[in-house]
Amino acid sequence: MKISAVIFDLDGVIVSTDEFHYQAWKQISDQEKIYFDREINERLRGVSRMESLNIILSLSEKSYYDTDKELLAQRKNDIYCELLNKLSPNDILPGVINLLLSLKARDIKIAIGSSSKNTPFILEQIGLASSFDKVADGNSITNSKPDPEVFLLAAKKLGVTPEECVVIEDAQAGIDAAIAAGMIAVGVGTAASCVNAHLKLKDLSTLNIDKLIEVNEIRS
Ligand code: BG6
Ligand code: MG
Repeated sequence: MKISAVIFDLDGVIVSTDEFHYQAWKQISDQEKIYFDREINERLRGVSRMESLNIILSLSEKSYYDTDKELLAQRKNDIYCELLNKLSPNDILPGVINLLLSLKARDIKIAIGSSSKNTPFILEQIGLASSFDKVADGNSITNSKPDPEVFLLAAKKLGVTPEECVVIEDAQAGIDAAIAAGMIAVGVGTAASCVNAHLKLKDLSTLNIDKLIEVNEIRS
């Protein structure tokens, strides 16, 4: 099977917004007097805003009404969006631009597959709003990763089969979603320790099409 498309996660793969998510959740946890650190934060990668909040609140003795949760999720997003205002193309992670250009040059389609509802704003801020063939994000899905919905939607929008797609992810939930979708899963950053990924990398500066073809051949 040939590789027809590469689907990129956004936060922590294209841009360093994963750090902003951490900072915003840290403020909410401190406000609620709930212990929160970077290790706990790893469990929030790739999962939706409300599911992330539920993980944090499960560490509290207190019980929260749905209305309280809505307010906390809104407050977290306000803090996060304030941080997003500072974003610029300088925050694009190493290797991303070169990889996007080389995929385009080889006629391999590119898409975003992200759980984030802030995807359009982030792409705008980093100057990549019109760089992807298709975008599937938190605004168009019901189930967040590890459910494969967002990646299957991206493949459908691109008009390719799941087997022809490679997913690039920094989250365990995202790697699981890619595998559940029947796609090749490349883990970058922290997910580079993920045992299920077909390929693991520190960042995208060492990834090229030949490497992807090699992984695809081993899988087939
Ligand atoms: C994912 C992040 O990309 O988007 C998660 O890894 C985040 O940490 C999720 O919770 C939802 O993001 P947003 O921007 O809709 O709150
Ligand atoms: Mg991510």
